[in-house]
Parts: sequence; structure tokens; C-alpha cells
Amino acid sequence: MIKELLNKELDNFLDNLSKKELEDMVSLHLAPNYEPLPVWIKSGKGSKMYDIDEREYIDFIGCYSALSHGHLNEKIIERVIKQIQRLTLTGRHVIYPELALFSKVLAEYTGLEMVLPMNSGAEAVETAIKVARRWGYMVKKVEQDKAEIIVMERNFHGRTTTIVGFSTEETYRKGFGPFTPGFKLVKFGDINEIKKVINKNTVAVLLEPIQAEGGVHVPYDGYLKDVRRLCDENDILMILDEIQTGMGRTGKPFAYMWENIKPDLLTVGKALGGGIMPVSAVCGKREILSLMTPGSHGSTFGGNPLACAIGIESILEMERKKLDKEAKEKGDYLIKKLKEIDSPKIKEIRGKGLLTGVEIKKEFGTGKKLAKILLKYGVITKETHLTTVRITPPLIISYEEIDEGVERFKKGLSEL
Ligand SMILES: Cc1ncc(COP(=O)(O)O)c(C=O)c1O
Repeated sequence: MIKELLNKELDNFLDNLSKKELEDMVSLHLAPNYEPLPVWIKSGKGSKMYDIDEREYIDFIGCYSALSHGHLNEKIIERVIKQIQRLTLTGRHVIYPELALFSKVLAEYTGLEMVLPMNSGAEAVETAIKVARRWGYMVKKVEQDKAEIIVMERNFHGRTTTIVGFSTEETYRKGFGPFTPGFKLVKFGDINEIKKVINKNTVAVLLEPIQAEGGVHVPYDGYLKDVRRLCDENDILMILDEIQTGMGRTGKPFAYMWENIKPDLLTVGKALGGGIMPVSAVCGKREILSLMTPGSHGSTFGGNPLACAIGIESILEMERKKLDKEAKEKGDYLIKKLKEIDSPKIKEIRGKGLLTGVEIKKEFGTGKKLAKILLKYGVITKETHLTTVRITPPLIISYEEIDEGVERFKKGLSEL
């Protein structure tokens, strides 16, 4: 194949492969850790995707909140083109203006002081765990190797071995042990549950403001404030994972801003990459992130010039288009339209901003089954937690597209 490709023009070659040829490549060479919907996507623009037969779909999942700016955002693409003609990768053993500016812009946007750039979301969470442990030993003076972090049942923070080690989802864990010790699980949304497990070795509480992958669970108003108070009273760091809820998704730049508090550490990813490439970071208070001295942590690609340029432009686009406000207004509208469906098959509609989930009564089928049916009607979404389908479209989705998407959703649901 490589020899054959050397003499071909790749675009043409890709476009002329038959479904059979593509399926053979996948079944023989691609590890089956995903079970994709049966659709071959060829292109995307705004809130739409098109398959290889030119059929149009409304993108109701927006790559699990990573495509908040929509497919092929013009400003971000322009920035990418300029940056790739200038500098893309150097390694962190040198320094470049893009990294300085990215740190400043991201710190300002998150409301925190310092930034430690990474690539994927899981890497950012791993980094936050390392920072919290280091703070525990260096500042809180926890006995060496005894640090504990309180985490939530039904959490989702990524797929590394440490992170899946404290997941409560059996399919994420099965066959991957032994796992990293030092995590205590408690029920999400109940402050007393956290209180019960705090001890002298507790260095941090790690949580998502809204559990997205866990089924779109929104805690009571004031929960984050309660966690903040508890952390302050017990000299514990509050780590918020806003990889999914951040970058405008819930109607504010970050979901913590709904409660007028500040976390000590914040993980950001997904939409920070502008729908182009993985860009993530841990942001935090200066006295905490300053503990990450030279040699303590690193990444070949983390904070590379192209990623920084994209990260900056992603934030600027959020601000230019006021995408957080758009998310709030469109999210309220979407929930109203979904509630109007008024189907006996719907158990609950949950969400905040454009992070929404529709839970189906289990006697009617699974979220996966519904997602497959919806494909026929030209809507792409994804199940989460057996009976819930998530609706997290690009924040630039139009009201007409929401109307059309909900209309198609209704048809799909009636077929379930
Ligand atoms: C809250 C949260 N944290 C972490 C991650 C992991 O991000 P990534 O897939 O980029 O590693 C996700 C991904 O869905 C997420 O939703």
C-alpha cells in the first residue's frame, strides 16, 4: 500500500476507495476499541457533517463538546494556515512567543494565574493529580506516599491507567489492573459524603461541575460552593475538571463561574483545540503550579507553537462570538423544544447551556439504539450510560438547525 500511495494523489485516492475496501482496512488493521455508527463521514462545515455519499447530518454531539466552534471555523483555520507557515514544533527545551501569549490569554480566560500546557484531556487530569500530590507533600506536609484524592462515583476523567483505576464504570476498568492507589470514591452531589472521608492525608477533591459522560448529571445549585468551603476548611485543593463543561459550554466561560468561586486547579481541553487538534492544560494558582519545577513533568508536544496559536484563537473566537451567552440562550431553547416532544418514552431531560442529555425509559430501548435510528433521520449523536443520549452540538448551531434537529429527533424517538 505504501508503495502504491507514493505515486498517488492522496485526496483522490481516499475519495475513490469503496466502502468494502475501507471496511476491510478497519476490520484488519484498526483495534476495535470503538463501535462507530455505520456512517462514513467525509466532510463537515459549521454544525453539519456530510457522508461519502454526500448525505447531510446535523451534528448534535459536536465531538463530545470538543467542536464548540463548529467544523472548520474560519478564523481558527486562518490562524492555523498562518502558523504552519511559520513554526509548528520545537520542543520545550527552547521558548517561543506563542507559548508566552497562550499562557497569558488562557490564565486570563480561566480566571487563574498559571498554565501548564498538555495535549489530551486525560493528560491534563493526570498532570493535575501529580500537582496535587506534590502540593500535598511539599506544602501540606502529608507523609510520603500517603496522599489521597477524593473522586466521584460515575466520574469521567479519561482513559489512562491511573484514571480508569478510580472509575466506577466496569467496562473502563476490566482487565487493566493493577491500579494506582490513593483515591477515595464518594457519591457525586452530596457534600456530606465528601466530609465523611476527609482525613489528614487528603490533598484534593477532584470533580466535574456537571458529570457529562456519566449521563449529564447536574448537581444542586451551590454544590461547588459547598465543596469550595469544605476544601478551605480542611486545607484541601479543589480540582475542577472542566474539559467538557468549560469553554462556554454551560453558558459561562467555565461552569465554576456560575457559583462565584475559584478552583485551585482547573483542567481545560476539548474545545480549547478549536476542533483542530488536542490542546489541553492545567490552570491554577501561582503558588501551586510553581511547585512544578524543571524536570518534574513534561511533554514533547504539550504547548507546541501550533497548539498555542490554536488555543489563543479558540479563546478569541469564544469572545468575539460570545459563544458562552449563545450556549445559554440556545441551551434553554433546546431544552424547551425537547420538552415539547412530550413522549412517554422520555424519562428525563437534563442539562445546562448546550450540555444536554435525554434519558429514555429503559423498557423502550437503549441510547445506542436511538442513536442508530437517528442516523437514518440525519442526526448524529451518541449514547452515554445505556439509556441517555447526549446533545452537545457546536455552540454556533443556528436556531433553525436546533428546530430541524429536534424535529428529526422526535421522528427517531417515535420509531424506537
Ligand atoms: C470531563 C472530562 N475529562 C477528561 C476527558 C478526557 O479527555 P481526552 O479524551 O481528551 O483524554 C473527558 C473526555 O470526554 C471529559 O469529558
